[in-house]
Amino acid sequence: MTATTTESTSRAARILSRPTAINGLTVPNRIAMAPMTRAFSPGGIPGADVASYYARRAAAGVGLIVTEGTYVGHESAGQSNDIPRFHGEEQLAGWAKVAADVHAAGGTIVPQLWHIGMVREQGQPPYAEAPAVGPSGLRIGADEPTGKAMTQRDLDDVIGAFAEAAAAAERIGFDGVEIHGAHGYLVDQFLWAGTNRRTDAYGGDPVARARFAEELVAAVRETVSSDFPVIFRYSQWKQEAYRARLAETPEELEAVLAPLAAAGVDAFHASTRRYWLPEFDGSDLNLAGWTRKLTGKPVITVGSVGLDGDFIKGFMGEGSPLRGIDDLLDRLEAEEFDLIAVGRALLQDPEWAAKVLSDRFDELEPYDAAALKTLS
Ligand SMILES: Cc1cc2nc3c(=O)[nH]c(=O)nc-3n(C[C@H](O)[C@H](O)[C@H](O)COP(=O)(O)O)c2cc1C
Repeated sequence: MTATTTESTSRAARILSRPTAINGLTVPNRIAMAPMTRAFSPGGIPGADVASYYARRAAAGVGLIVTEGTYVGHESAGQSNDIPRFHGEEQLAGWAKVAADVHAAGGTIVPQLWHIGMVREQGQPPYAEAPAVGPSGLRIGADEPTGKAMTQRDLDDVIGAFAEAAAAAERIGFDGVEIHGAHGYLVDQFLWAGTNRRTDAYGGDPVARARFAEELVAAVRETVSSDFPVIFRYSQWKQEAYRARLAETPEELEAVLAPLAAAGVDAFHASTRRYWLPEFDGSDLNLAGWTRKLTGKPVITVGSVGLDGDFIKGFMGEGSPLRGIDDLLDRLEAEEFDLIAVGRALLQDPEWAAKVLSDRFDELEPYDAAALKTLS
C-alpha cells in the first residue's frame, strides 16, 4: 500500500468509528446494515440461522442492523410463509433470540415493520383469502382498481398492527423500530399520487397524502417509550417504477417530511439506489442530505455503497475515488447525513465493516449476485 492509501484509509476508520445517537439509542459507529428481505424463515419464524446471520455482521462491526422487512399483524400485510412475521408467539420468540444474539455481539438492531399493500397477490400465504388493500385499490402503474380501497376501519386496523408490533419490539429487547414507508409498499402507496386517488382526508395534496403515515407514526410513538427510536424509511423510487418521485422540489419534500417529524420520527432513512446522485437541481445534496437539511433529524443514507468498482479502488489508493470512500467520508464529515447503510456488499461479505474499520481494504470482495441465495 502507498502512503496516500494509509492516510486515506485511516481517515475512513476515524470518521466511521464515531458513535452517534438516535433518540435514546447510542449507535457505536456509522455503519448500518440495510434491510434486506431474505425469505429464510419458514412459518414466518426467524430461526437460529437467521440470528447468527445478523449476529455475525454485528460481531464484525456493523453498528446498527435494520432487519429485513417483517410483516405486521394484519391479514393483508404480506404474501409469503418464508418472510418473517412480527406477531405471534413463536415468531416473536425467534426475534427475541435475534436481538439477544446481536446484542451479545456488540451491535444494535431494529426490525423493519412492513405491510406490502397492493403489491399483494390474492391467494398467497400466509392468509390466502385476504384481499390486497391500498389507499385506492390500485397497483403501481394501474388505472383501474384490482384491490380493496381501504375503509376507515382498515386504516385503523393497520395502524393498530404497526403500533402493536412496535410495542412488541420494545418488549422483546429491540433498540427501536423502522417503519417501511418506501419502495411502493402500503405506506408509500399513500404518499404517492400515482397510487393514492382518495378524495377524503387521506388524499389530495402532499400533506393529505402524508396523513396516513403521520397517524401511523403518532400511534407508534404513543405506544413505545419516549426515548425508544422510531426510524422512518422512505424513497422517491418504487418497485417497478424506478423513476417515480414523491417530490419534485425541496418544498414538496418538506411538505411530506415535516408532519412525519412532528408526529415523532427520530431519524429518517432516505432510500436511494446510488447515494452520490444529487436529488434536486442546483445542489450536490443527495436525498439523505436534503432530508437532514429539511427536518434537522439524523438521517441514514444508502445506495451502492461499496459496490462501485471505484469505491474499492478508492480505498486501495488506485484510480479516482470520486464516488468512492473519500466522497462518502466528505459528506459524512460535513454532516450531510449521519449513518451509511450497506446492503448487498454486506450480503457478500459479513466481514465488510470490520475490514473497512481496520484498514483491510485490500480484502474487500466485489459483489456477486450469488450472495442473494444464501444466508451465510
Ligand atoms: C435482496 C434484497 C432485499 C431487499 N429487501 C428490502 C426490504 O425488505 N426492505 C427495504 O426497505 N429495502 C430492501 N432492499 C433494499 C435495500 O435495503 C437497499 O436499499 C438497496 O439494496 C441498496 O443498497 P445497496 O446498494 O447497498 O445494496 C432490498 C435489497 C436487496 C438487494
